[in-house]
Amino acid sequence: MKIGTKVNLILVIVFVVGLLISGTALSKVLEYKAENELSSKAVILMEIANSVRTYTNDRVQPLLMPISDTQEKFIPESIPSYSAREIFETFRKKKDYSNFLYKDATLNPTNLRDKADEFETNLVKEFIQNPASMTTSGFRTISGEKLFYTAKPFKIEQESCLRCHSIPENAPKSQLNSYGREHGFGWKLNDIVATQIIYVPAQEIFTSANRSFLLISGVLIGIFTAIIVVINLLLKKSVLQRIQKIAMVAVQVSVGDVDASFGKQDKDEIGALAEAFNRMKYSLEIALKMLGNKE
Ligand code: HEC
Repeated sequence: MKIGTKVNLILVIVFVVGLLISGTALSKVLEYKAENELSSKAVILMEIANSVRTYTNDRVQPLLMPISDTQEKFIPESIPSYSAREIFETFRKKKDYSNFLYKDATLNPTNLRDKADEFETNLVKEFIQNPASMTTSGFRTISGEKLFYTAKPFKIEQESCLRCHSIPENAPKSQLNSYGREHGFGWKLNDIVATQIIYVPAQEIFTSANRSFLLISGVLIGIFTAIIVVINLLLKKSVLQRIQKIAMVAVQVSVGDVDASFGKQDKDEIGALAEAFNRMKYSLEIALKMLGNKE
């Protein structure tokens, strides 16, 4: 095998293996980064939703409850789940956020729009089976849109909640007027009744991660190709062509052409080789001359 072919083969193997390893590492890093970004978005939104809940519970509910109790129609603005959901709906009206979603996905909800779908029901059941788990997250596709979700168990921790969620007889009349007596009752203290879940659109972040992957891979392939081309040129110019020339001259000398010249050489290893051949050529000439004189 020629030196050039051998060197190229080794270079190509090293570069392909290098590309595969760096490509895999890069794709893992980008995927990790994308998931981290999605997760931190979801966590912030969840915290904001919970701040709205706390505010509604501590500041709005005490003001509205007395009125709600005596009115015909329930005032839902006094309910933390309602205000968290409504504020999130307002947030979703902005075009960029229309695919975000917040839900207190409940097995047996007061307001049927909070009803857990099949996927969310399974999450709640998992939380009920593993009461120690704090959050879970992952991906799911809803109507063709890839979404990242973070979900927390929703536990009934206060006795006061049971007034409206245990038996209809205890609930305010206005609540029964607005929501009926079939849903949202029968909850018990320390029950996990729902999952608080945030959905963040994932497609765009993964598309941009893919774009970064292609760009960086392209740049790496470009650099590797340039390195192969430059090494080839250098090898050809400063080694292979000179060795070929020395070999050719040596062949000419061997068949008696004493005028064949190695030409001007650089002062490097190949130059030294040519110089050594040159000295051999002179010695040969002298030896031949001496032989000729003897005859
Ligand atoms: C005054 C009655 C009342 C009290 C007290 C109350 N809730 Fe509710 N809750 C409601 C009503 C009414 C809704 C439905 C609101 C809507 O339209 O979204 C609701 C909704 C919810 C939801 C969303 C799922 C669903 O049922 O629609 C959760 C979860 C919830 N409440 C938990 C609690 C917790 C936890 C407490 C105690 C801290 C509590 N509630 C106290 C009346 C009450």
